[in-house]
Amino acid sequence: MAYNLLKGKRGIIFGALDENSIAWKTAEKVHEEGGSFVLTNAPIAMRMGSINQLAEKTNAKVIPADATNVEDLEKLIDEAQEILGGKLDFVLHSIGMSINVRKGRKYTDQNYDWTHKGLDVSAMSFHKLMQTLHKKDAMNEWGSIVALTYMAAQRVFPDYNDMADNKAFLESIARSFGYFYGKDKKVRVNTISQSPTPTTAGKGVKGFDGFIAYAEKMSPLGNATADECADYTLTLFSDLTKKVTMQNLFHDGGFSNVGVSQEVMESFQ
Ligand code: NAI
Repeated sequence: MAYNLLKGKRGIIFGALDENSIAWKTAEKVHEEGGSFVLTNAPIAMRMGSINQLAEKTNAKVIPADATNVEDLEKLIDEAQEILGGKLDFVLHSIGMSINVRKGRKYTDQNYDWTHKGLDVSAMSFHKLMQTLHKKDAMNEWGSIVALTYMAAQRVFPDYNDMADNKAFLESIARSFGYFYGKDKKVRVNTISQSPTPTTAGKGVKGFDGFIAYAEKMSPLGNATADECADYTLTLFSDLTKKVTMQNLFHDGGFSNVGVSQEVMESFQ
């Protein structure tokens, strides 16, 4: 159901790789709600994914950009404003990657070149993105910036590996930048801490099937889906949440506040 929540709003959506991506679902729903946007992803992901189908469906232009490269970000932000006809109201950072996870290196045996790359892609890119937007004064007042994160930033999930540290850094950047962006430009910055979700990035984590099944049994409302995450993101892009900023918002069916559920206990009795 559409409510025209984002009518007349303009933005940039990072991270739609394929139709399972959280960013893909978000783009579809932003379009339904009347928002217009530019889609972007790393040049290599464009060759692997199917972003052009999404672009056609949502009437969006695609601009390749490596989110770790400030020059790419500058070009993206300039071109997006030109294409959309003005400053931006919303930005979604839906980007994550760890080479240590991908190549099965343990947390206690990291290849630090890979750790560094993962940190740059998954966390520092968020700072680079906001610093570039801020310097260019590219956001309208009361605009909204959202990044996606996971609860391994607060609690240990062994197979999440160095992504846990990347997410802790990402959430901290949201708080710190949110302060300055709020003061200077009345722009809000939040992270959504999402349930495990079967996407390319999600399924790349070792033991993902066990992980998602366990979370489902622990969450009173069950795991939040990618579609539901997109719905939540819309509310944060809308004018209905103007004073929500510098928050890490759990979107996890209640998982983060449960010690143990009846179902999980029963499996031990
Ligand atoms: P996905 O694999 O569909 O999306 C990850 C995206 O990051 C891809 O589109 C990829 O091309 C992009 N990316 C990687 N390197 C990049 C670079 N250098 N520049 C620009 N883009 C780059 O997976 P998903 O799950 O939709 O991931 C989106 C976000 O949600 C990530 O931050 C992820 O950590 C987060 N998240 C995912 C959960 C899950 O279980 N799937 C749970 C909680 C958070």
